[in-house]
Amino acid sequence: MSSLTITLVRGDITEQHTDVIVNAANSSLLGGGGVDGAIHRRGGPEILEDCRKLRASQFGRGLPTGKAVATTAGKLHAQWVVHTVGPVFSREEDRSQLLASCYRESLRVAGELGARTVAFPAISTGIYGWPMDDGARIAVETVRDAQTSVEEVRFVLFDEQAYAAFAARVR
Ligand code: APR
Repeated sequence: MSSLTITLVRGDITEQHTDVIVNAANSSLLGGGGVDGAIHRRGGPEILEDCRKLRASQFGRGLPTGKAVATTAGKLHAQWVVHTVGPVFSREEDRSQLLASCYRESLRVAGELGARTVAFPAISTGIYGWPMDDGARIAVETVRDAQTSVEEVRFVLFDEQAYAAFAARVR
């Protein structure tokens, strides 16, 4: 059982050279802003074509929150993009398990594909409003506890605050 290495990178997830790049998508799978917008912009139309095929087949009603599905990575330096839908942060309801599921399910899909290296963004901590420190805690704990054949998980953090939040958890 190969042990999993967790690495942190300060930068743009669309520039990573990994087998899988994980997209912080929405349930429509038809694109958006943030990571989603960057991946579709840099990856090109093939990714959206694959997403449209998924919407026309097994995900007719969209990808549920916490689930993950793979498409081509188009022009990105990856073999696949794994799209996952994070929960929108709520003060009334604890959606932590749904956020954990995004990491767990993305690793499961990546492992099934035979991926060895996986780049994750800080899911839900942007437009979906999840506090960064708690998002980092859930991300690192879930990945650490995962039973996976993936060998490296690379958290790609877009700014210093995100990087510091993850670094405090990975120590
Ligand atoms: N590379 C790495 N991280 C990035 C990048 C990038 N190119 N762009 C943004 N981020 C960071 C943000 O700073 C944030 O910390 O990724 C984290 C997630 O932010 P979002 O992309 O806004 O994703 P999320 O909060 O999960 O919201 C998803 O936003 O883009 C739409 O279609 C998407 O509706 C969905 C929602």
